[in-house]
Amino acid sequence: MKKLGIGLAGVGRMGRIHAVDLVSRCARAGLACVYDADAERAAALATQLDVPVAATFDELLERSEAVAIATPTGTHAELTVAATKAGLPVFCEKPISLDRGTTVATLTAVEAAGIPFQVGFHRRFDPDWVAAADRISAGELGDVTLFRTSLRDMNPPDPAYLAGSGGFFVDVTVHDLDVARWLVGEVVEVSAHGTASDPAFSEIGDIDTAVVVLRFASGALGVIDTPAGPATATSAPPR
Ligand SMILES: NC(=O)c1ccc[n+]([C@@H]2O[C@H](COP(=O)([O-])OP(=O)(O)OC[C@H]3O[C@@H](n4cnc5c(N)ncnc54)[C@H](O)[C@@H]3O)[C@@H](O)[C@H]2O)c1
Repeated sequence: MKKLGIGLAGVGRMGRIHAVDLVSRCARAGLACVYDADAERAAALATQLDVPVAATFDELLERSEAVAIATPTGTHAELTVAATKAGLPVFCEKPISLDRGTTVATLTAVEAAGIPFQVGFHRRFDPDWVAAADRISAGELGDVTLFRTSLRDMNPPDPAYLAGSGGFFVDVTVHDLDVARWLVGEVVEVSAHGTASDPAFSEIGDIDTAVVVLRFASGALGVIDTPAGPATATSAPPR
């Protein structure tokens, strides 16, 4: 079977995972080329995986049948719209952007182009989560009156990443907010609280521990708790 040639932009922490998956674990897709603003990083991975490297994002678009974007969140919208204009299907890491206006504008461009567009909310493709969603929508579990998720991230990113992440709610809690709406439905009321246990977060005005309370349109309630792990094992404050 001919594999769909995907060009991957951004080969940092997440991009490397996608690159290895595309090279070794996908029956219907392969890695057409890699591109990164850090040309040395892209070249090193291209050599390691024996795939072509693109010198620019435009070159990536020319070499690819579809695009995967794993660059910092603040760059997703621009790259997605450029790929859209080239008529290529896009997988974009979560979240789509750092603010609502840019996200809506990006989705409008994607819809106008009519291209397939997938966002990296990986739980939506995880068999266990999908089974839960199926059982809820089939009514097997009755009416949902309480939704609860807990996320633990024992390997948080380094401080350089945090500065451009959009903050803990946008970068991390977004996964839980997505499944809340997927599994239970529209949210009509939110209260959110955060604190930081790790100075790497508090020094940039961010948090690493959050509790979010939701009220759904159905009347159900939700609780999301997301204490993050320490930045390094040795700097871990006692918990
Ligand atoms: N789905 C998930 O669970 C999950 C997990 C981690 C990260 N992410 C998302 O993946 C994205 C990347 O995160 P990361 O941790 O891999 O970051 P990272 O900093 O490790 O890697 C980003 C890479 O993009 C490159 N880059 C920066 N600007 C670029 C540009 N304009 N064009 C091309 N390359 C560029 C950088 O040089 C770097 O190699 C973020 O949006 C993050 O939210 C998703």
